[in-house]
Amino acid sequence: MKRLENRVALISGAGGGIGSAMAELFAREGAAVVVNDVAVEAAEAVCARIRGHGGRAMAAVADISSAADVDRMFQAVERECGAVNVLVNNAIWSTGDTTIIEEDDAVFDKTIAVCLKGPYLCTKRAIGSMRKSGGGSIVTISSVNALLGVGETAYTAAKGGLIAMMRLVAAEYGGDNIRSNVICPGTIETENCMNYWKQYPAGYAKLLDMYPLGRIGKPEEVAAYALFLASNEAAFVTGTVCVIDGGLLAGKKFEV
Ligand SMILES: NC(=O)c1ccc[n+]([C@@H]2O[C@H](COP(=O)([O-])OP(=O)(O)OC[C@H]3O[C@@H](n4cnc5c(N)ncnc54)[C@H](O)[C@@H]3O)[C@@H](O)[C@H]2O)c1
Repeated sequence: MKRLENRVALISGAGGGIGSAMAELFAREGAAVVVNDVAVEAAEAVCARIRGHGGRAMAAVADISSAADVDRMFQAVERECGAVNVLVNNAIWSTGDTTIIEEDDAVFDKTIAVCLKGPYLCTKRAIGSMRKSGGGSIVTISSVNALLGVGETAYTAAKGGLIAMMRLVAAEYGGDNIRSNVICPGTIETENCMNYWKQYPAGYAKLLDMYPLGRIGKPEEVAAYALFLASNEAAFVTGTVCVIDGGLLAGKKFEV
């Protein structure tokens, strides 16, 4: 039996990066995967790869910061696939985000809209859908930024807010058999992330040196953690913050 057999899993921002790795893994584990993104071609390409391997996938183009888009997406998913059993809050918009005194107010607002309001809107609709089918699992991708002062004001504020909001969801909807857990990854080797670090080779070497394991993570490693939380193997796991960071928060051995 595959680990997500007979489940419908909606993953926001699954057109690339960690989201597409989760979409492909969840499909291999038997889920019908809803690949949400604002980027149409990226979402379609992920669906095509999943179908090419015999999996089931539906592209759902929607801006998760728009309540109307999120409503339309959930209606289409329920019509075509049935109730949502797994939600992964993964999409982000993050660009030009900086220290608090340098921060542009419009960048702050848009970052919070996608990274915090987006998961709020998707979770709200998903709970309604999950209640129809006896429960479900919500996995929210936060970041080590929520646990450590490493930069990006609005992104960090959103990621910290997600930990508090999604813990509350666990407390308030456990009685509906809905689990809610948060994953905080360290730096992960996605295309966007590597395009950034290619511009700063010396900074990248310093970054690697912060990790006890001497490397950053892979999208597939975060996907494996999300799969565990989404599946029945984690049936007694809710309200947790799961760190996957190669030891970053543990710190490095002190040498005199
Ligand atoms: N990559 C890392 O180093 C890293 C580290 C810690 C946490 N994370 C977290 O992991 C998750 C995935 O990160 P990633 O690096 O794969 O991101 P990414 O930038 O590669 O992908 C994000 C996706 O979200 C989509 N998106 C943007 N705005 C959207 C919107 N309004 N509605 C729907 N989709 C939208 C983008 O088109 C893109 O496909 C994020 O929550 C991120 O904060 C990533």
